[in-house]
Amino acid sequence: MATTNLEETARTIVTDGRGILAADETVRTLTKRLASHAIESTADIRRAYREMFFNTPDIAAFIGGVIMQDETVRQKSATGTPLVALVADRGLIAGIKVDDGTQPLAGAPGERVTEGLDGLRGRLEEYRQIGARFAKWRAVITIGDGLPTARCVHANAEVLARYAALCQEQGLVPIVEPEVLMDGTHTLERCEEVTGHVLHAVFDALYDQRVSLDGTLLKPNMVIAGHDCPRQASVAEVAAATLRVLARHVPPAVPAVVFLSGGQDHLLATEHLNAINQLEGPKPWKLTFSYGRALQEEALEVWHGRSENVPAGQHAFYHRAKCDSAAALGRYRSTMESGAAVAETRLRSSNNQQPGTGDTPWHNP
Ligand code: 13P
Repeated sequence: MATTNLEETARTIVTDGRGILAADETVRTLTKRLASHAIESTADIRRAYREMFFNTPDIAAFIGGVIMQDETVRQKSATGTPLVALVADRGLIAGIKVDDGTQPLAGAPGERVTEGLDGLRGRLEEYRQIGARFAKWRAVITIGDGLPTARCVHANAEVLARYAALCQEQGLVPIVEPEVLMDGTHTLERCEEVTGHVLHAVFDALYDQRVSLDGTLLKPNMVIAGHDCPRQASVAEVAAATLRVLARHVPPAVPAVVFLSGGQDHLLATEHLNAINQLEGPKPWKLTFSYGRALQEEALEVWHGRSENVPAGQHAFYHRAKCDSAAALGRYRSTMESGAAVAETRLRSSNNQQPGTGDTPWHNP
């Protein structure tokens, strides 16, 4: 097992406050997101959408890796460059979502297990040849009346560990993503309890499957009250509970914890990450982001499926990635939201300028 290379890849992705862009929505999920903005979903429009993000000038300052999905790793840019090569040219490491989504867990009403282990070894081999250097597998855990059950937690932990072992065998860094969903009325305390239980089961399973933690990235939820909980916790409470649960359940050998955004508002996702990084206390892992919605939502809104809006979409993405990267270093300030970067985005969008070219530096020093 090429542990050293895996560890190097894992650490490179998250160097200097960098995080991950989770651009791995399935065709079905992306079609729904596009539809919510009245944008048609064709293979070419999805390609244009991905390309807007991957081709953002100077984005490697804040993003170290991009998670793609099967359709995207096989697509070419408008000028004929494979998107995987385009990502590499931008200085980003390509990753690939390899799970097949969730199915109802037999005998466990309301709970799901992630599928996709069949034939996974061959698929990983192919993705590595295409250029992927890391992979992702997402398990979902629901909090509810009597949920989660121990068997759901264990079934998901088991498949996560078997996936991770296969990834390392094939020379890919596994991102292990056990997501405790935000849906529901549960309290912050309940989320903390369940997240701790899930992390414990996942690391037990990883140990049993001889997965090297040095070459693994953990992608957990933050500890947050359910969407419909009448008492929403403060940023400080979320940060404290999240760090506490990690300290109790995540071994220090893991190079980085790369949080998912899980439906949080993009500003809150930035603030939470910043607050976690500002806390005192042992933090043996990098604490950074692997956001999907929280990184892309603003850009999707301004892009609106139109090629003339690509520069504005790229500015929105660049700005959010910059703020999230600052948060990964505990250096985010809310004044960054009202600064020149935002004004510049608007100006350029109305002038229809191409960013990152010519004499005008795109980023603010
Ligand atoms: P969100 O940040 O939108 O939760 O997406 C992250 C992800 O990769 C989910 O699997």
